[in-house]
Amino acid sequence: MCGIVGYLGKRNATPIIIEGLKRLEYRGYDSSGIAIIPDKEIKVYKESGRITELERVLPTPKESSSNIGIAHTRWATHGEPSKKNAHPHLSHNGKIAVVHNGIIENYVALRKQLVKEGYEIVSDTDSEILAHLIEYFYKKDGDITIAVQNALKLVEGTFGIAVINQDNPKQIVAARRGSPLILGIGDDEFFVTSDVGATIIHTKQVIYLHDNEIATIDRDGYEIITLMNNKVEAIISEVDWDISAVEKGDYDSFMIKEIFEQPISVENAFRGRLSEKLSTTRLGGLNIPNSELRKVKKIQIVACGTSWHAGLIGKHLIEKLARIPVEVEYASEYRYRNPIIEEDTLVFVISQSGETADTLAALREAQAKGAKVLGITNTVGSTIARESDGGSYIHCGSEIGVASTKAFTSQVTVLTLLAILLGRMHHTSPTDGLRYIKELYNIPDKIKKILDQNDKIEAIAETIKDSTNALYLGRGVNYPVALEGALKLKEISYIHAEGYPAAEMKHGPIALIDESMPVIAIALKDSIYDKIISNLEEVRARNGRIITIATENDDRVKEFSENVIYIPDTESIFQPLLSVIPMQLLAYHVAKKRGLDVDKPRNLAKSVTVE
Ligand code: F6R
Repeated sequence: MCGIVGYLGKRNATPIIIEGLKRLEYRGYDSSGIAIIPDKEIKVYKESGRITELERVLPTPKESSSNIGIAHTRWATHGEPSKKNAHPHLSHNGKIAVVHNGIIENYVALRKQLVKEGYEIVSDTDSEILAHLIEYFYKKDGDITIAVQNALKLVEGTFGIAVINQDNPKQIVAARRGSPLILGIGDDEFFVTSDVGATIIHTKQVIYLHDNEIATIDRDGYEIITLMNNKVEAIISEVDWDISAVEKGDYDSFMIKEIFEQPISVENAFRGRLSEKLSTTRLGGLNIPNSELRKVKKIQIVACGTSWHAGLIGKHLIEKLARIPVEVEYASEYRYRNPIIEEDTLVFVISQSGETADTLAALREAQAKGAKVLGITNTVGSTIARESDGGSYIHCGSEIGVASTKAFTSQVTVLTLLAILLGRMHHTSPTDGLRYIKELYNIPDKIKKILDQNDKIEAIAETIKDSTNALYLGRGVNYPVALEGALKLKEISYIHAEGYPAAEMKHGPIALIDESMPVIAIALKDSIYDKIISNLEEVRARNGRIITIATENDDRVKEFSENVIYIPDTESIFQPLLSVIPMQLLAYHVAKKRGLDVDKPRNLAKSVTVE
């Protein structure tokens, strides 16, 4: 949700920043801008639309040559996406430029005060007032760090900011609260970014800024203080992945690359976490002894979007294997509804980015109520990873496509490990535990077998690409997969789609079914197979066009299906890891055939750091 890149060093900042900005485009892509100091004065270039539009308005390389710069790619919150509202914002006298990610909640009050002081506000954004406020304080004592500190003390809300000041063209000030911000430490050069992906090509040495910290970076080094003026001893971390993780390679989009990475990413999620000897799993980072875990009476899982769907699968598996009741909540609802958390309730938050504002607020709410909160995240050093009392990384590598794919299967893998772990403490026998573990080793190959059907799925996509609606059906553990399939289709192809438990269809949605309605159904061989087959017969009787995801060698489904996608047989607890793959491919191909940008669907951003 907005991306920030800043550079200070000996090289020309502009190409480095533009390249970094492109890597952050997934965080927002409705407008972008850059501020540099090529000579004595700050120059700002902005444009609405993608970063390629910004590149078009940049002057010649010579004119835009600067050793310092800050830039921003925007996902609009306050004020429409336009050139005027794009960042960087300049202060009243044009000498200070600011980029901001987050929301200034009290900006109306602050704007009023600034207008009274004679400041002219030119954009509709909340962010612009930061530039004027900093100028206001800078004029008082001439220290930019103190000015930023004083300005931010007045601010309610969230921010990741980078500031440059033309009086000192060798200095960047950066600060954060609630929005991620990272310092990259290079050789005689420094970077400020929202995400390490923007600078990994230049350095792997990073400092994750914490909330309420302000970093002042100049050519000789950096100093970090808090809003309350305490000095901070920063810890430099080494990023343990490389540039290939943030490049498309031979693929035409990150989404398809990430879909095809799943045999490896799922394996990475369980590697080193299986014990055949004890027929169980281990999740070292949970930070909670088994004796305590055994006493847990209730689990709450809190998340948003795709991560919430993974949570629903987790509920199904934990209840099935461990018989522990699990509640799955939308983080945005949980945080405001005063949730009941009893003494022996354990809370899990799931977030790929580790920065989702609602999930973070839910985590804090649960902790405030005294709960132990464990995080299932992908992003090392993210706020949720840092603030949880323990947890488990999903290790799927950088996910850049806005529509989550590999993070989902990795989240589900970790939740499956958790279910087996808890199951073995309660109801699951060693024989069942061992059988599960052995089957988990087979899952990556089974995913590969589904990916091999990519061409066939592309051909099926051709048959539904012009639909205006689609229905996704599943039952049991595959019902959340139906929800996920529908979400994938709607977010990247803009076709309205709904996921339903198959039997629930006759309580309303069946009215929608006619010959133009594709129904994508998961009908796998398990204990409720016959039930879902009856549901599909009902669809067929109303001329619905059925695409069935079925178990290999199941000929019966052919009788009523327009198309069948076969997936390998597996234990029912692992079905979601397989059944979701055709759904992802189908959504991808439909969107491509409709000529859409699958990596950057309209109105969306990868990391939702605002409420
Ligand atoms: C959908 C998607 C979103 C995210 C949601 C939560 O494809 O990616 O629904 O799942 O915004 O994001 P995280 O997991 O980063 O908290």
